[in-house]
Amino acid sequence: MNTAALFTPLTLRGVTLPNRLVVAPMCQYSVTDGFVGDYHLVHLGRFALGGFGLVIVEATGVTPEGRISHGDVGLWSDDHVPGLARVVDFLHAEGTAAGIQLAHAGAKASTLRPWDGTGPVTSENARPGEAPWPTVSASAVPAGPGWPAPHPLTVTEMGEVRDAFAAATLRSSAAGFDVVEVHAAHGYLLHQFLSPLSNHREDAYGGSLEARMRFPLEVVDAVRAAWPADKPLFVRVSSVDGSRDGMTVEDTVAFARELKARGVDAVHTSGGGLGGGWEHPIGYGYQVPFAAQVRADADIPTVAVGLIVDAHQAEAIVAGGAADLVAIAREAQDDPNFAVHAARELAADYDVYPVQAGPRLASRDRLLGTLGPWTGPDPVQVRQPA
Ligand SMILES: Cc1cc2nc3c(=O)[nH]c(=O)nc-3n(C[C@H](O)[C@H](O)[C@H](O)COP(=O)(O)O)c2cc1C
Repeated sequence: MNTAALFTPLTLRGVTLPNRLVVAPMCQYSVTDGFVGDYHLVHLGRFALGGFGLVIVEATGVTPEGRISHGDVGLWSDDHVPGLARVVDFLHAEGTAAGIQLAHAGAKASTLRPWDGTGPVTSENARPGEAPWPTVSASAVPAGPGWPAPHPLTVTEMGEVRDAFAAATLRSSAAGFDVVEVHAAHGYLLHQFLSPLSNHREDAYGGSLEARMRFPLEVVDAVRAAWPADKPLFVRVSSVDGSRDGMTVEDTVAFARELKARGVDAVHTSGGGLGGGWEHPIGYGYQVPFAAQVRADADIPTVAVGLIVDAHQAEAIVAGGAADLVAIAREAQDDPNFAVHAARELAADYDVYPVQAGPRLASRDRLLGTLGPWTGPDPVQVRQPA
């Protein structure tokens, strides 16, 4: 009898996620011109073999200029669809749902890959053939000290970005994805519109929270219209800005209510990314209270994320009603079999092993159960026949 809430399916519109464990989007900065290949098939495929219910592909540029780095995944052309469809097909064959995060980096575009350095690409630090490009935002507020000032988007240019999100949504559908997640978090373009720290506009898109939400909501409307009615739409938000002078969780609840009214199915409650720093508590599950507040006050399903590292911790989040789904990033990279291990730890009656390995691993588990843990230091600890 499966008593673990974490291993209960969740149906959103016409999509049933087999369990509540989600791999959070994680940029790998590892492709050329946006095209995924073998690296992504293996990187993402291993999470499906490891039993996760939903794997969300990293921030994917809806335009070349919207990429964070030259190494980002892209979906600004139909040519990008087959590579992603290959990943989706693999995830589906293993019973895992496939999501993709559609993104525009705004003022945080044209950035170095993390292992090449921090900060913007410049003509001095650029790799050969990887020139910096001009960035855009809500206002001419640089992403940080030493960054170039972005060009404030005109209303016409905002319409082009909105249309690029919609076109990438159609391509996500063509690739077979089950979930689209709009990236409105972490100080990227849509968050730059939402936050008073980065939006100093004096037109209909700046000033009050209602005005700052206007462009992100227009993008969400366009994505929802382009995305099949039987597929769920997520939006990732920074529940609070890192600085206490920015977005508050109450602002995010107001945004989430608008998202719900526009047919968004879940809010992925992350945090930070603008203004530098983090003036809030930090620790295991530090963003779970945001998921709980948005879920309760906006009455919308939420995805909790942030230092969720343990099966019992994840189970408590879902069983306690703080969130409907639990997203895991770094811990999943460390342990792609997190879901397999969680099912074992929670004694959930749930088949997480790939069918190819399942019976053998199950027989090993039964044997280990009779032996107890290896205690060392003797490498050989056999049980003598009776
Ligand atoms: C390598 C790496 C890449 C990331 N890339 C993205 C991304 O593409 N989109 C996004 O919204 N968050 C991204 N994040 C943030 C994670 O999705 C997640 O919110 C964060 O790491 C906290 O979760 P964790 O404590 O389980 O790692 C990234 C995190 C890491 C470690």
